[in-house]
Amino acid sequence: MSNRMWGGRFAEGPDAIMEEINASIDYDRKLYRQDIAGSKAHVRMLAAQQIVSADDAEKIVGGLDAILKEIEDGTFTFSRALEDIHMNIEARLGELIGPAAGRLHTARSRNDQVATDFKLWVRDTLDTLEQQLSELMLALAEKADAHAGDVMPGFTHLQSAQPVTFGHHMMAYVEMFARDRSRVRDARKRMNECPLGSAALAGTSFPIDRKATAAELGFDRPTANSLDGVSDRDFVIEALSAAAICAVHLSRLAEEIVIWCSAQFGFIKLSDKFSTGSSIMPQKKNPDAAELVRAKTGRIFGSLQGLLVVMKGLPLAYSKDMQEDKEQAFDGLSSVSLALAAMTGMVKDLEPNTKVLKKAAGSGYSTATDLADWLVRVLGMPFRDAHHVTGRIVALAVERNCELHKVPLEDMQAVDPKITDEVFQVLSVDKSVRSRVSYGGTAPANVRKQARRWLKELGKA
Ligand code: ARG
Repeated sequence: MSNRMWGGRFAEGPDAIMEEINASIDYDRKLYRQDIAGSKAHVRMLAAQQIVSADDAEKIVGGLDAILKEIEDGTFTFSRALEDIHMNIEARLGELIGPAAGRLHTARSRNDQVATDFKLWVRDTLDTLEQQLSELMLALAEKADAHAGDVMPGFTHLQSAQPVTFGHHMMAYVEMFARDRSRVRDARKRMNECPLGSAALAGTSFPIDRKATAAELGFDRPTANSLDGVSDRDFVIEALSAAAICAVHLSRLAEEIVIWCSAQFGFIKLSDKFSTGSSIMPQKKNPDAAELVRAKTGRIFGSLQGLLVVMKGLPLAYSKDMQEDKEQAFDGLSSVSLALAAMTGMVKDLEPNTKVLKKAAGSGYSTATDLADWLVRVLGMPFRDAHHVTGRIVALAVERNCELHKVPLEDMQAVDPKITDEVFQVLSVDKSVRSRVSYGGTAPANVRKQARRWLKELGKA
């Protein structure tokens, strides 16, 4: 039997494999709410424009509400023969209200219908991500405020570099996630134009009111070009790009958590709630949530890459290739959402081991730059000379297998006789961080100020 929605010219129904490759209902059923909202807005507009009768419009709206309830109650039967969510709903509408159902699709195509539904879904998802990012930023800023003055090693090349504070490290991620949040907001703003009424590709001869449907669905305006309206997917690509960049940040933090909670580092304690054990090694407490956040990044990048490749060669306007946009978006965006939730939980629960951090902060000659700066400031040495003198003192410390502040003054004076014991004052990690008062630097007062600024912005404190 040929398809009732489009089969007028067909003598035969589809091959089983055709149905298999063509049907999207298994995943696009996720769009049922958006599809029903779009259809209701469309038919109300058709009635207002006297394209369909008020009576038929009322029947259609009533039928759509009944279908919404059936789907939410789990009593709706989805059919692969009906391909996708749009035709499943329309067919059921016919069963429920009879011939009036056939008027719903006036001045509309599945092409503008699916673009609209999908935009509504992506828009809702971006709203959720924005909220989740705010929650993660809040968790990080709270940790930062609580540990604004707790020193830890700062690294470059994963080698001891200079002491920083744990709060400063947390605040670095607040800045990254704030930019992610602003990318999400930008994407939402840019995508908020309604494709409905573009019809198949050329617009329609019916006197529709696209501004009315756009407004009812919460869009800022209708899309200005019908070809573009039905055939672009840059709104999904942009959402996935924002998700991918956010995933980079999540993954870097996850990687640090994995390193930090190892026995060798021992920088933080992760809560039991976000760890797992081993079936053979009784001592194990593994940071699985962090590892999975790191791994989800692969799926998120994959979704973005997948959709870019699907879209890159398509001539205007719609091609069925574009049906492959949905699984990419569903998978990529729900992965980043889950990763954000897991990261927020981990951050809230983690506790820095402040004593371990402080000890580690002083190892690896981390205050060598403070020594060089002292030589510049107090002895008036050019920085390049100070760098060299300090390097020689570090070499002495390496030779003696001791920390920098344990090198005897006489040995330092053998390198440069002008050095006095005042130098020891700058060799402590606390002094070191307190001296970094330049804007954006790690001085605890700075960090506290930044943390409070964000807490305020996020509605706390
Ligand atoms: N399921 C389709 C999709 O997701 C709906 C649009 C179908 N349009 C068409 N002309 N066959 O892309």
